[in-house]
Amino acid sequence: MRILTTIAEARIACREARMRGELGLVPTMGALHAGHISLVRRAREDCETVAVSIFVNPLQFAANEDFGKYPRQFEQDCRMLEAAGVELLFAPTAEEMYPAGAATFVDVGELGAKLDGASRPGHFRGVATVVSKLLHVIAPDKAYFGQKDAVQVAVLARMMRDLNFEAELVRCPIVRDADCLAMSSRNAYLSAAERQQALALPRALIAMKAAIAAGERSPVRVLAEGLIVLAAEPGVAFEYLEAVDADTLERVTKIEPGTLIAVAARVGGTRLIDNMLAE
Ligand code: PAJ
Repeated sequence: MRILTTIAEARIACREARMRGELGLVPTMGALHAGHISLVRRAREDCETVAVSIFVNPLQFAANEDFGKYPRQFEQDCRMLEAAGVELLFAPTAEEMYPAGAATFVDVGELGAKLDGASRPGHFRGVATVVSKLLHVIAPDKAYFGQKDAVQVAVLARMMRDLNFEAELVRCPIVRDADCLAMSSRNAYLSAAERQQALALPRALIAMKAAIAAGERSPVRVLAEGLIVLAAEPGVAFEYLEAVDADTLERVTKIEPGTLIAVAARVGGTRLIDNMLAE
């Protein structure tokens, strides 16, 4: 695996790779787990060459958020990517990505202010800006994102359509641990007791899934099933639970196949998100 730290060398290596066949990009912030690796595997199946980026993007963290303590484990990440057969790793510094005077941002408007965007102002502007830069540098044929971050995928799909990015966006399903908690680099912050409390999120989704499977189509009644589960767990500080259109993130009046049911909550100091698509 070649480790590329400058934009200039990444451009050359990616141009060469594209001459050999399709190039896939998996953007990450590192602290890799099986969720990230599932995206790499999918890219490995689809593409001749797989590039991964590791960049903890300062622009998507607010001043009060965990940029400073976000887990960084570069060597272990490299070993995992080597084992998964990745050819190219782009790991730039913050100075390389945001040279002094950088003043241009990508803003997805209203869409970036919904759900997670409501409690994390500016977050999706940071995500859209860095992903557009990564797409320009790597110029992949396909870019892989996880449904774990359902709002992020909706924002990036809109951005890539609106700004005519050539890459195809590939959505990959959520990978869960054996206890059903959606894998996340931030799960490392949870104590054993908090992890037990965090399981209320997937439990709430399972309860809502059962209601939908039983024929319930009213968002109010389906979400109530989830709220009961969340309210029963005092360690969970609920932030939102919504049934929305997966592309527009607008609330729906009827649950249909593909409706996004998304939840966010804090457990201790850790903000967790989870979701499912109705069947
Ligand atoms: P990060 O949180 O490192 O996630 C990188 C990619 O892995 C995202 O597309 C995310 O949705 C996916 N992912 C994380 N956990 C997953 C899981 N349990 N199952 C499936 N996919 C999972 O998301 C970001 O980084 C950043 O915002 C980024 C897009 C890299 C821009 O900085």
